Amino acid sequence: MIELHDVSVTYPGGVEALKSTDITFEAGQFTVLLGPSGAGKSTLLRSLNGLVRPTTGKVVSAFAGHIAGRRAMRQHRRRTAMVFQQHQLIGRLSALGNTMTGRLAYHSTWRTLLPLSAADRRIALECLDRVGLLDGALRRADQLSGGQQQRVGIARALAQRPSLILADEPVASLDPATATRVLTLLHDICRSDNISAIVSLHQVQLAKSFADRIVGIAAGSVVFDGPKERLTERHLEQIYGRLSDDGDRTAPSPLPATAGALALAME
Ligand SMILES: Nc1ncnc2c1ncn2[C@@H]1O[C@H](COP(=O)(O)OP(=O)(O)OP(=O)(O)O)[C@@H](O)[C@H]1O
Ligand SMILES: [Mg+2]
Repeated sequence: MIELHDVSVTYPGGVEALKSTDITFEAGQFTVLLGPSGAGKSTLLRSLNGLVRPTTGKVVSAFAGHIAGRRAMRQHRRRTAMVFQQHQLIGRLSALGNTMTGRLAYHSTWRTLLPLSAADRRIALECLDRVGLLDGALRRADQLSGGQQQRVGIARALAQRPSLILADEPVASLDPATATRVLTLLHDICRSDNISAIVSLHQVQLAKSFADRIVGIAAGSVVFDGPKERLTERHLEQIYGRLSDDGDRTAPSPLPATAGALALAME
């Protein structure tokens, strides 16, 4: 459904955030991207909807072909919804108002200046119902809890009637119980509506619970790609580096412990 062919991304400052990558994401799968901070997860997700332009290679989508020109990009983005860590809701708008912005991709630029139609409103209300927030439809977004705000973020994505949802750490700012509830909701809706999802997460346990496929990224390269059942401790070490003593996942230290201590002692 969406393919990266030899895609690499080097940012203007010279950071090669994604090394040459070939990967195909299949329709209907719930794929989780794992990797330490700075590994390139957001860069990969953003290149999948054209927010980041590949430095080399091309992204080819089932809906729009090679997403290069404006027309192809529009077609592709219409079918591709984003869910962000910080929700990116408009605080002074109601939950309903925010959800209705998911309909904007279906209207031409001039049309978006006018109030959306009753049909769009009905779709938005249906989507709020799906995420259990119909009662809160008229509440201001900035008065909702973090979990409720992210449910509005999911409703807004659904209002777009997408074939693909790209979610960049959608539960990172939620407490563990709420994170599990929100991810369960996203997963179940994607499954029942046959929406493909590519979701970056920092919680390995959540990835193991929900993913059909896990893609592990380290320093801009895919170092693991397979079903969650195949993900072993060894793979996790390849993705995150060694386990620290308290069990936290840490990136490998650039200096061996003794050299680091020596450097500190010399400061
Ligand atoms: N706009 C940018 N300009 C320059 N460098 C960037 C930009 N965005 C990201 N980078 C760099 O690219 C690399 C990959 O960043 P990216 O945001 O894709 O990582 P990530 O895996 O999403 O990390 P995190 O888990 O912290 O969100 C990092 O070294 C980062 O500093
Ligand atoms: Mg990121």
